Amino acid sequence: MSHHENNPVIYLKDYLPPAFLADKVELTFDLYPNQTRVKSAIYFTRNEKRESGLPLELHGADLKLISLSLDGQSVSDDRYVLSDDQLVITEVPDRFLFEAEVEIDPANNTSLEGLYRSNTMFCTQCEAEGFRKITYYPDRPDVMSSFTTTVIADKTEYPVLLSNGNPVDKGELDNNRHFVTWQDPFHKPAYLFALVAGDLKLVKDSFTTMSGREVALEIWVEPENLSKCDHAMLSLKNAMKWDEEVYGREYDLDIYMIVAVNDFNMGAMENKGLNIFNSSCVLARADTATDMAFQRIEGVVAHEYFHNWSGNRVTCRDWFQLSLKEGFTVYRDQCFSADMNDAAVKRIEDVSMLRTAQFAEDAGPTAHPVRPDHFIEISNFYTLTIYEKGSEVVRMIANLLGPDLFRKGSDLYFERHDGQAVTVEDFVAAMSEVSGIDFEQFMRWYSQAGTPQLDVSDHYDAETKQYHLTIRQMTPVTKDQQDKLPLHIPVKTGLLNTDGQDIPLILVQGEASGQQGDTDRVLHLREAEQTFIFDQIPDAPVPSLLRGFSAPVKLSFPYSQQQLLHLMRHDSDGFNRWDAGQRLAVDALQTMVSEFESGRVPELDSGLVEAWRNLLGSDLSPAILAEMLSLPEEAYLGEQYDVIPVDGIHACRRIARKTLAQALESELRTCLETHQLSGPYKPDADDIGKRRLNNTCLSYLMTLETAEITERVWQQFNQADNMTDQQAALTMLVHSGQDEKAREALEQFEQQWQQDALVMDMWFQVQARRPQPDALARVKALMSHPGFSLKNPNKVRSLVGAYCGQNRVNFHGLDGHSYRFLADVVLELDQMNPQIASRLITPLTRWQKFDAKRQQMMQTELQRIAQAELSNDLYEVISKALP
Ligand code: ARG
Ligand code: ZN
Repeated sequence: MSHHENNPVIYLKDYLPPAFLADKVELTFDLYPNQTRVKSAIYFTRNEKRESGLPLELHGADLKLISLSLDGQSVSDDRYVLSDDQLVITEVPDRFLFEAEVEIDPANNTSLEGLYRSNTMFCTQCEAEGFRKITYYPDRPDVMSSFTTTVIADKTEYPVLLSNGNPVDKGELDNNRHFVTWQDPFHKPAYLFALVAGDLKLVKDSFTTMSGREVALEIWVEPENLSKCDHAMLSLKNAMKWDEEVYGREYDLDIYMIVAVNDFNMGAMENKGLNIFNSSCVLARADTATDMAFQRIEGVVAHEYFHNWSGNRVTCRDWFQLSLKEGFTVYRDQCFSADMNDAAVKRIEDVSMLRTAQFAEDAGPTAHPVRPDHFIEISNFYTLTIYEKGSEVVRMIANLLGPDLFRKGSDLYFERHDGQAVTVEDFVAAMSEVSGIDFEQFMRWYSQAGTPQLDVSDHYDAETKQYHLTIRQMTPVTKDQQDKLPLHIPVKTGLLNTDGQDIPLILVQGEASGQQGDTDRVLHLREAEQTFIFDQIPDAPVPSLLRGFSAPVKLSFPYSQQQLLHLMRHDSDGFNRWDAGQRLAVDALQTMVSEFESGRVPELDSGLVEAWRNLLGSDLSPAILAEMLSLPEEAYLGEQYDVIPVDGIHACRRIARKTLAQALESELRTCLETHQLSGPYKPDADDIGKRRLNNTCLSYLMTLETAEITERVWQQFNQADNMTDQQAALTMLVHSGQDEKAREALEQFEQQWQQDALVMDMWFQVQARRPQPDALARVKALMSHPGFSLKNPNKVRSLVGAYCGQNRVNFHGLDGHSYRFLADVVLELDQMNPQIASRLITPLTRWQKFDAKRQQMMQTELQRIAQAELSNDLYEVISKALP
């Protein structure tokens, strides 16, 4: 494929500082849907860190060059070389003014990268390398400059013109056009540039910072969404306050803007002073958004706000350092959400996602370290590994230092590197300096891919009253790396006595944080195998290992059912109480799957039934109870196998749910009656927990398929004053075997919500996840629904993404039709939006985890895709995934 020879692999080891620095940038946009003109004036200075005489190399893609001049003199054709992705000018002075004019076509930019149209507005997405689709520029994060941006557009169609920083000028022009000039005083890389133009309406508020400055807060949306901004605004104010209190970070401009757009590849973008958001991560109202959406909005608004320090004021030297800003910022937003809600529930949710999806990525063909050392297309590296595992790595650092030293370390990092583009080493150096901790071995967490496996065994010596814990660690080989070294792994540990109380820990062999006698301590595992010895242990204890999920690893210990029940009831660590229940459930379900596979009728272990009965009779909070009552998802169960028994898992999980419902019907009903909500909808932790618990109980009862329960769910569907309950009821009706009811509910929901794109996303999704065997036919039919569009990423994710990623039993149907379907969609989509195409293909790349027949069919489709002319994005993923 000759086309890819121009786009070779880029290596971290080849990093060189830029040859030129940009002191100042002035941009003028004359906006038209098909022929936007962009004028740039850039003041360049040769970088002393590089040799003299180097040419000026600027990135550029899909640009039509109109004019070019240096220091006011137009540049003749023979002095520059123009290629598909670069403009190179030889023989330039050490300081000069570069000016260019280019023409671009936003209306036909379906990649949603650079300047593009969403509905009738103009907007931008420049991270990682989208600015080069706007004009010629050194489009790399270590070139930081101040930007002045003038936006010119038709006054009627685009009354609102926004860019980064503060508005400094505006006025009227001929032909019904007007302009606004924005100035951003903070030096920034081009990936943080943003521009918006449209007929937008404003929700306004303000925030007084800790030093008493007033900041204007503005959320810009399409007129029909004005009533859906309150939650995002409240979340923003909470985040601003939290960052002052917890990190001492104050906002720095006089204005902070958020714009909601419908067509957006990711969740949101932290452009300086002008965040651009996927509308799904801003807009919420009780009747249109679920609790989950409310919480996601809170988290994403905070995430983008926190980037103002962790990302913008201190940015990345190069894209290999992406997790420097993303891992740290995810860690910050996770802690924020934990503080705003139920911390234990938040941790359970984050770990579930990590163990299900990130562990799968780490075990698949696109496995890469938290800091990758090579890539073809950086957009492929906005991954769960960079974000979620990256956050776990920062969490481990924070736990190693403790809260006070971690705050000192972050203060030092921000002060020392304010205004700079830095590396992971700079972050870790600050943490090491304030604490005296040696992070040399720990740094392997950044360079080594794969999920470490810990195998733990124990031995109690009744004579000496000593308890031995032996831990072995092994990181499996990943496609990108053969040799793995032992990591420095913090294993937070407690020991429970027979009454369920924590035993004081006196360690006589092995390294650990904390004091002798503390009841939980962090064991420092450094070797491939290490034994920790605890003294003065009166009786054989039950170990509570990896409390709070202190490291992103898989841990196995030969727990008996009795021991797990003991931990479930008594562990002082809420996370491990939940995890003990999950282990119990995994064991029970795996036993059933073996039965199923050998042709017998699987039965659920009565031990699990009794454990669940105990849960329902306990005084746990509704939110925790809901988590504990939920059986592990099919995807997580699949992760426990080398070859995923797709059908067995699906069938056995259904049987298990029904068995639990039959055995615990009266307990589930009682639970439902005792947690009824009253008063208006509130998306706070208590009410969310109650709704979650009620819907969990109800969906168990729904498996009984009685007319009475169906009627009850139908009532909830009709009468709910909030989308959480309405959507839950819709799902129960649609996923039950009662086709008539399902059809009726879907029709009614569509009638009610067809004008609301975000609600319709749920309508598509609930059908995509339907377990009935006609799901693929439905999905195909829904692609012709007027509300569906392949050009809108939210729609693609809700229908095709949800079907292929979350409807396992149907996606992996043995006729192979779904594999073919996904390949067809991806090939079509790659022509429009390579970023979305290369993400959507993920389920097909995981063929190693399936039986020979499925493997073969999946590979056939990958090979078929490989025959086509592909984007770099898709090419990189496919070439890794091919056998
Ligand atoms: N920095 C953004 C965030 O995490 C994500 C932008 C991703 N953009 C992309 N083209 N992959 O908040
Ligand atoms: Zn981010």
